[in-house]
Amino acid sequence: MDNAGSRIPGFYKLPLRERREVVSERAGVSLEALVRAVDGGGLDALMADKVVENVIGTYGLPFGIALNVRINGRDRLVPMVVEEPSVIAAASNAARRVRASGGFSAEVIEGLMIGQVQLTHVRSPALAIERLERESEALLALAARAVPGLVQRGGGPRAIEIRDLGQGCIVLHVLVDCCDAMGANLVNTIAEAIGPIAAELAFARLGLRILSNLCDRRRVRVTCRVHARELALSRASGAESSRSGPISDPPPSSSRGDIDPSEVVDRIVEASRFAELDPYRAATHNKGIMNGVDAVVIATGNDFRAVEAGAHAYAARNGRYAPLAVWRRDGDDLTGELEMPLALGTVGGTLRVHPAAQLALSILGTTSADDLAMTAASVGLASNLAALRALATEGIQRGHMALHARSVAVAAGAQGDEVEIVAATLSERGDITREAATRVLADLRARR
Ligand code: MEV
Repeated sequence: MDNAGSRIPGFYKLPLRERREVVSERAGVSLEALVRAVDGGGLDALMADKVVENVIGTYGLPFGIALNVRINGRDRLVPMVVEEPSVIAAASNAARRVRASGGFSAEVIEGLMIGQVQLTHVRSPALAIERLERESEALLALAARAVPGLVQRGGGPRAIEIRDLGQGCIVLHVLVDCCDAMGANLVNTIAEAIGPIAAELAFARLGLRILSNLCDRRRVRVTCRVHARELALSRASGAESSRSGPISDPPPSSSRGDIDPSEVVDRIVEASRFAELDPYRAATHNKGIMNGVDAVVIATGNDFRAVEAGAHAYAARNGRYAPLAVWRRDGDDLTGELEMPLALGTVGGTLRVHPAAQLALSILGTTSADDLAMTAASVGLASNLAALRALATEGIQRGHMALHARSVAVAAGAQGDEVEIVAATLSERGDITREAATRVLADLRARR
């Protein structure tokens, strides 16, 4: 995708059909294939029946596109699957602000998964560790033989590390490069293959053999920079959504009181500090990050439970739950940095059967798991920025009430463009009730 590729002004105003056409054209995916993959949730019941047990059907979720995302100089249209209103608009909006300063810079650090082999009833941990270390090359060779396909693709086991957990329990970590796979099956296969020999070498009883979801040797780091003036831009200068959601831009209004852009920087830095000082706030701060990360993870058919487990364990790695992303002032700029473990795959798992997940990767224009991880993390940082900016300025309730007005309008029977008109009237009047919506809708229909 060229550098103008993820900026599509007015995208939200297009009818659904035209949005699909634009995405199909920009992503080089046939419109027919796109529609087939996302209509009805992409997965039919017969296919679902082959994926899990006791199936009675499928469960659909909205599939949208985050705009304006530029990572390492390359534009991406980013597929997001999420049920929460305004998450996609907010991420697109924050990405636009970041884009003005060059976009996100991202890197994958190490890229190794961890397989754990638990060894119990160890009488002499020091001796066991010495014997395991001495045989680590042989253990790695055995591990490699268990995953010949992975080794052929250039991946495979890379190192063995051993930790004494006390109480006669030691754990052997095998570090594995899983290439473009998330790697759970590969790592579990390796852990099971080397477990019995490891137990023999350690004169131990063999315990669990399973990957660790605290994959802190497969981390993503994303940074960005936003000039203060970009934080002050109003919706009118580049709205990304037809709705004013809880964490999308507030409409320009003198009633919200204009805040100096430089003060917005300070307030966001203070919001970041709040999360650094208080785990109660850090949990919510990280939830805002995961709004973006999970939506990309789900769209691409990846295991969001694994990602969540890793993210929160990493956030607590120093014994105190902390924010995954922090924000600082640098001159007139706001700078953000996110670092988190992220094990994603573009091959294997659910992706093999889910047409919408395959479409998501085509829209994203990548087959690389590293690329995907950098994208999900960038959208996470964008989501965090959007949330903090809204919270640090006017708060999110006004946006929430606007969204609430839409659902009240729908509940009163509004359809098509009636929804926005009725919702706007309810918000203006400050009377967001079903009765008011029914009256406004009847008036509107009488006038048409
Ligand atoms: C809501 O889904 C996410 C936020 O609570 C995140 C935050 O508070 O930073 C708005």
